Amino acid sequence: MQKTVLLIHAHPEPTSLTRTLVEAAKTSLLASGHRVLESDLYAMNWKAVFDAADFPQRVNEDRLCFVSESGNAYAKRAQTQDVEDEQAKLRQADAIVFQFPIWWFSFPAILKGWVDRVFAYGLAYGYKDAGNQHRYGEGGFAGKRALLSVTVGGPFEDYGARGINGSLEQILFPITHGTLFFSGMEVLPTFAVYGTGRLSEAETGLAIEGLNNRLDGLFTDAPIPFRAQNSGDYQDKHQLAAEIAPGRTGIVAHHAEPDLFV
Ligand SMILES: Cc1cc2nc3c(=O)[nH]c(=O)nc-3n(C[C@H](O)[C@H](O)[C@H](O)COP(=O)(O)O)c2cc1C
Repeated sequence: MQKTVLLIHAHPEPTSLTRTLVEAAKTSLLASGHRVLESDLYAMNWKAVFDAADFPQRVNEDRLCFVSESGNAYAKRAQTQDVEDEQAKLRQADAIVFQFPIWWFSFPAILKGWVDRVFAYGLAYGYKDAGNQHRYGEGGFAGKRALLSVTVGGPFEDYGARGINGSLEQILFPITHGTLFFSGMEVLPTFAVYGTGRLSEAETGLAIEGLNNRLDGLFTDAPIPFRAQNSGDYQDKHQLAAEIAPGRTGIVAHHAEPDLFV
Protein backbone atom coordinates (compact mmCIF):
# COMPACT_ATOMS: atom_id res chain seq x y z
CA MET A 1 0.00 0.00 0.00
CA GLN A 2 1.27 3.47 -0.82
CA LYS A 3 2.47 5.40 2.21
CA THR A 4 3.77 8.92 2.65
CA VAL A 5 7.33 9.26 3.90
CA LEU A 6 8.85 12.53 5.07
CA LEU A 7 12.59 12.59 4.45
CA ILE A 8 14.32 15.22 6.58
CA HIS A 9 17.99 15.83 6.01
CA ALA A 10 20.72 18.13 7.17
CA HIS A 11 23.80 18.54 5.01
CA PRO A 12 24.74 21.43 2.71
CA GLU A 13 27.25 19.50 0.57
CA PRO A 14 25.78 17.64 -2.44
CA THR A 15 28.70 15.17 -2.60
CA SER A 16 28.54 14.26 1.11
CA LEU A 17 27.67 10.74 2.17
CA THR A 18 24.55 12.14 3.81
CA ARG A 19 23.28 13.55 0.52
CA THR A 20 24.31 10.42 -1.36
CA LEU A 21 22.13 8.43 1.05
CA VAL A 22 19.29 10.94 0.70
CA GLU A 23 19.25 10.46 -3.08
CA ALA A 24 19.40 6.68 -2.67
CA ALA A 25 16.56 6.78 -0.15
CA LYS A 26 14.37 8.87 -2.44
CA THR A 27 14.97 6.50 -5.34
CA SER A 28 14.25 3.46 -3.18
CA LEU A 29 11.07 4.84 -1.57
CA LEU A 30 9.66 6.02 -4.90
CA ALA A 31 10.48 2.65 -6.49
CA SER A 32 8.49 1.01 -3.68
CA GLY A 33 5.50 3.14 -4.69
CA HIS A 34 5.61 5.51 -1.72
CA ARG A 35 5.02 9.24 -1.86
CA VAL A 36 8.04 11.20 -0.64
CA LEU A 37 7.91 14.59 1.06
CA GLU A 38 11.23 16.28 1.71
CA SER A 39 12.73 18.81 4.07
CA ASP A 40 16.22 19.74 2.89
CA LEU A 41 17.00 21.97 5.86
CA TYR A 42 20.09 23.72 4.49
CA ALA A 43 18.47 24.37 1.10
CA MET A 44 15.43 25.77 2.94
CA ASN A 45 17.76 28.02 4.94
CA TRP A 46 15.89 26.69 7.96
CA LYS A 47 15.96 29.02 10.94
CA ALA A 48 17.55 26.85 13.61
CA VAL A 49 17.18 29.15 16.57
CA PHE A 50 13.94 29.13 18.56
CA ASP A 51 13.38 32.71 19.70
CA ALA A 52 10.87 35.54 20.08
CA ALA A 53 10.41 35.76 16.29
CA ASP A 54 8.57 32.45 16.51
CA PHE A 55 5.67 34.14 18.24
CA PRO A 56 4.27 37.00 16.14
CA GLN A 57 1.23 37.26 18.46
CA ARG A 58 2.34 37.04 22.07
CA VAL A 59 0.18 36.13 25.05
CA ASN A 60 2.67 37.82 27.34
CA GLU A 61 4.79 40.63 25.90
CA ASP A 62 6.67 41.10 29.17
CA ARG A 63 8.23 37.69 29.60
CA LEU A 64 8.93 35.04 26.94
CA CYS A 65 7.69 31.67 28.19
CA PHE A 66 8.32 29.27 25.28
CA VAL A 67 5.90 26.60 26.49
CA SER A 68 2.88 28.85 26.90
CA GLU A 69 3.59 30.89 23.76
CA SER A 70 4.07 27.65 21.79
CA GLY A 71 0.74 26.31 23.07
CA ASN A 72 -1.04 29.52 22.22
CA ALA A 73 0.53 29.87 18.77
CA TYR A 74 -0.25 26.25 17.89
CA ALA A 75 -3.85 26.40 19.12
CA LYS A 76 -4.58 29.71 17.39
CA ARG A 77 -2.70 28.83 14.19
CA ALA A 78 -0.52 31.86 14.87
CA GLN A 79 2.77 30.11 14.17
CA THR A 80 5.24 31.22 11.53
CA GLN A 81 4.60 29.85 8.04
CA ASP A 82 7.74 27.70 7.96
CA VAL A 83 6.65 25.88 11.13
CA GLU A 84 3.08 25.48 9.80
CA ASP A 85 4.47 23.98 6.58
CA GLU A 86 6.60 21.43 8.43
CA GLN A 87 3.72 20.42 10.69
CA ALA A 88 1.54 19.96 7.58
CA LYS A 89 4.16 17.58 6.16
CA LEU A 90 4.29 15.70 9.47
CA ARG A 91 0.51 15.35 9.53
CA GLN A 92 0.60 13.70 6.10
CA ALA A 93 3.55 11.44 6.87
CA ASP A 94 3.14 7.79 7.81
CA ALA A 95 6.86 7.61 8.48
CA ILE A 96 9.67 10.11 8.99
CA VAL A 97 13.23 9.30 7.98
CA PHE A 98 15.94 11.54 9.43
CA GLN A 99 19.23 11.48 7.50
CA PHE A 100 22.09 13.34 9.18
CA PRO A 101 25.74 13.16 10.18
CA ILE A 102 26.49 12.57 13.86
CA TRP A 103 27.91 15.84 15.13
CA TRP A 104 29.06 15.80 18.73
CA PHE A 105 27.08 12.65 19.47
CA SER A 106 23.83 14.21 18.28
CA PHE A 107 21.92 16.08 15.54
CA PRO A 108 23.51 18.96 13.64
CA ALA A 109 22.14 22.17 15.18
CA ILE A 110 19.89 22.92 12.19
CA LEU A 111 18.01 19.66 12.79
CA LYS A 112 17.81 20.16 16.53
CA GLY A 113 16.36 23.59 15.75
CA TRP A 114 13.79 21.98 13.47
CA VAL A 115 12.60 19.86 16.40
CA ASP A 116 12.67 22.77 18.85
CA ARG A 117 10.46 24.90 16.59
CA VAL A 118 8.19 22.33 14.90
CA PHE A 119 7.41 20.05 17.87
CA ALA A 120 4.91 22.46 19.40
CA TYR A 121 3.07 22.32 22.70
CA GLY A 122 -0.32 20.71 22.05
CA LEU A 123 1.15 18.57 19.29
CA ALA A 124 4.41 16.91 20.31
CA TYR A 125 4.17 17.62 24.02
CA GLY A 126 1.33 18.80 26.23
CA TYR A 127 -0.86 16.80 23.85
CA LYS A 128 -4.56 17.66 24.30
CA ASP A 129 -3.39 20.18 26.90
CA ALA A 130 -3.40 17.25 29.34
CA GLY A 131 -0.03 17.73 31.00
CA ASN A 132 1.97 14.52 30.84
CA GLN A 133 -1.01 12.19 30.30
CA HIS A 134 -0.14 11.33 26.71
CA ARG A 135 3.56 10.84 26.24
CA TYR A 136 6.01 7.98 25.62
CA GLY A 137 4.05 5.92 23.15
CA GLU A 138 1.06 8.26 22.90
CA GLY A 139 0.64 11.80 21.66
CA GLY A 140 0.26 13.87 18.55
CA PHE A 141 2.49 11.65 16.41
CA ALA A 142 1.00 8.27 17.39
CA GLY A 143 0.70 5.91 14.44
CA LYS A 144 3.78 7.31 12.69
CA ARG A 145 7.06 5.48 12.35
CA ALA A 146 10.50 7.06 12.59
CA LEU A 147 13.93 5.98 11.43
CA LEU A 148 17.24 7.66 12.18
CA SER A 149 19.75 7.06 9.39
CA VAL A 150 23.10 8.45 10.40
CA THR A 151 26.64 8.80 9.12
CA VAL A 152 29.25 8.34 11.82
CA GLY A 153 32.89 9.41 11.58
CA GLY A 154 34.18 6.94 14.18
CA PRO A 155 34.63 3.22 13.54
CA PHE A 156 32.08 0.62 14.62
CA GLU A 157 34.36 -0.68 17.41
CA ASP A 158 34.24 2.68 19.16
CA TYR A 159 30.44 2.39 19.38
CA GLY A 160 30.15 -1.29 20.31
CA ALA A 161 28.96 -2.63 23.66
CA ARG A 162 32.32 -1.78 25.30
CA GLY A 163 33.50 0.79 22.79
CA ILE A 164 35.12 3.96 24.05
CA ASN A 165 32.34 6.24 22.78
CA GLY A 166 29.49 4.22 24.26
CA SER A 167 26.83 2.39 22.29
CA LEU A 168 25.36 4.45 19.46
CA GLU A 169 21.77 3.39 20.21
CA GLN A 170 22.23 4.50 23.82
CA ILE A 171 23.86 7.77 22.76
CA LEU A 172 20.85 8.51 20.56
CA PHE A 173 18.35 7.81 23.38
CA PRO A 174 17.52 11.52 23.82
CA ILE A 175 16.34 11.55 20.20
CA THR A 176 14.80 8.10 19.78
CA HIS A 177 13.18 7.95 23.22
CA GLY A 178 13.09 11.49 24.57
CA THR A 179 11.88 13.16 21.38
CA LEU A 180 10.31 10.71 18.91
CA PHE A 181 8.85 8.01 21.19
CA PHE A 182 7.93 10.75 23.66
CA SER A 183 5.66 12.34 21.06
CA GLY A 184 4.08 9.01 20.10
CA MET A 185 6.14 7.65 17.22
CA GLU A 186 7.24 4.05 16.84
CA VAL A 187 11.00 4.32 16.45
CA LEU A 188 12.94 1.75 14.47
CA PRO A 189 16.48 0.68 15.37
CA THR A 190 18.96 3.23 14.04
CA PHE A 191 20.65 2.64 10.70
CA ALA A 192 24.29 3.76 10.87
CA VAL A 193 27.23 3.90 8.50
CA TYR A 194 30.50 4.01 10.47
CA GLY A 195 34.01 5.13 9.60
CA THR A 196 32.70 7.60 7.06
CA GLY A 197 36.02 9.41 6.62
CA ARG A 198 37.53 6.49 4.75
CA LEU A 199 34.76 4.86 2.75
CA SER A 200 35.68 3.30 -0.59
CA GLU A 201 33.24 3.31 -3.50
CA ALA A 202 32.43 -0.33 -2.75
CA GLU A 203 31.73 0.50 0.92
CA THR A 204 29.50 3.38 -0.13
CA GLY A 205 27.61 0.91 -2.31
CA LEU A 206 27.18 -1.41 0.67
CA ALA A 207 25.93 1.51 2.77
CA ILE A 208 23.30 2.31 0.13
CA GLU A 209 22.29 -1.35 -0.02
CA GLY A 210 22.03 -1.46 3.78
CA LEU A 211 19.82 1.63 3.83
CA ASN A 212 17.62 0.27 1.04
CA ASN A 213 17.08 -2.92 3.06
CA ARG A 214 16.04 -0.90 6.07
CA LEU A 215 13.68 1.23 3.99
CA ASP A 216 12.08 -1.96 2.69
CA GLY A 217 11.24 -2.74 6.32
CA LEU A 218 10.11 0.77 7.22
CA PHE A 219 6.51 -0.32 7.76
CA THR A 220 7.13 -3.89 8.88
CA ASP A 221 10.27 -4.00 11.04
CA ALA A 222 9.79 -4.19 14.80
CA PRO A 223 10.32 -0.85 16.55
CA ILE A 224 12.67 -0.42 19.51
CA PRO A 225 10.63 -1.87 22.40
CA PHE A 226 10.61 1.20 24.61
CA ARG A 227 8.20 0.92 27.50
CA ALA A 228 5.01 2.93 27.04
CA GLN A 229 4.06 5.28 29.85
CA ASN A 230 0.48 4.04 30.02
CA SER A 231 1.24 0.32 29.70
CA GLY A 232 1.26 -0.25 33.46
CA ASP A 233 5.06 -0.33 33.67
CA TYR A 234 5.02 3.14 35.25
CA GLN A 235 2.28 3.01 37.85
CA ASP A 236 2.51 6.68 38.72
CA LYS A 237 3.47 7.81 35.17
CA HIS A 238 6.91 8.75 36.46
CA GLN A 239 8.93 5.82 37.79
CA LEU A 240 9.16 2.20 36.78
CA ALA A 241 7.12 -0.06 39.02
CA ALA A 242 9.26 -2.08 41.44
CA GLU A 243 8.56 -5.41 39.69
CA ILE A 244 9.59 -4.11 36.24
CA ALA A 245 13.25 -4.71 35.35
CA PRO A 246 14.18 -5.06 39.04
CA GLY A 247 17.67 -3.85 39.81
CA ARG A 248 17.97 -2.04 36.47
CA THR A 249 18.63 1.66 36.50
CA GLY A 250 19.35 4.28 33.89
CA ILE A 251 18.30 4.33 30.27
CA VAL A 252 18.42 0.58 29.59
CA ALA A 253 15.59 0.05 32.09
CA HIS A 254 13.18 1.81 29.71
CA HIS A 255 13.74 -0.81 27.03
CA ALA A 256 11.60 -3.97 27.32
CA GLU A 257 14.69 -6.11 26.67
CA PRO A 258 17.41 -4.22 28.56
CA ASP A 259 20.15 -6.75 27.74
CA LEU A 260 19.62 -6.08 24.05
CA PHE A 261 19.84 -2.29 24.40
CA VAL A 262 23.41 -1.96 23.22
C1 LIG B 1 31.00 19.32 13.97
C2 LIG B 1 31.29 17.86 13.80
C3 LIG B 1 31.10 17.01 14.87
C4 LIG B 1 31.34 15.64 14.73
N1 LIG B 1 31.10 14.82 15.78
C5 LIG B 1 31.27 13.49 15.65
C6 LIG B 1 30.98 12.60 16.72
O1 LIG B 1 30.52 13.00 17.79
N2 LIG B 1 31.20 11.27 16.53
C7 LIG B 1 31.69 10.78 15.36
O2 LIG B 1 31.87 9.55 15.23
N3 LIG B 1 31.95 11.59 14.31
C8 LIG B 1 31.75 12.93 14.42
N4 LIG B 1 31.99 13.76 13.36
C9 LIG B 1 32.34 13.17 12.05
C10 LIG B 1 31.08 13.08 11.17
O3 LIG B 1 30.16 12.15 11.71
C11 LIG B 1 31.46 12.71 9.74
O4 LIG B 1 32.16 13.83 9.23
C12 LIG B 1 30.27 12.43 8.86
O5 LIG B 1 29.66 11.22 9.25
C13 LIG B 1 30.69 12.31 7.41
O6 LIG B 1 29.53 12.11 6.63
P1 LIG B 1 29.06 13.23 5.58
O7 LIG B 1 29.91 13.02 4.31
O8 LIG B 1 27.63 12.93 5.34
O9 LIG B 1 29.33 14.57 6.22
C14 LIG B 1 31.79 15.13 13.49
C15 LIG B 1 32.00 16.01 12.42
C16 LIG B 1 31.77 17.36 12.57
C17 LIG B 1 31.99 18.27 11.40
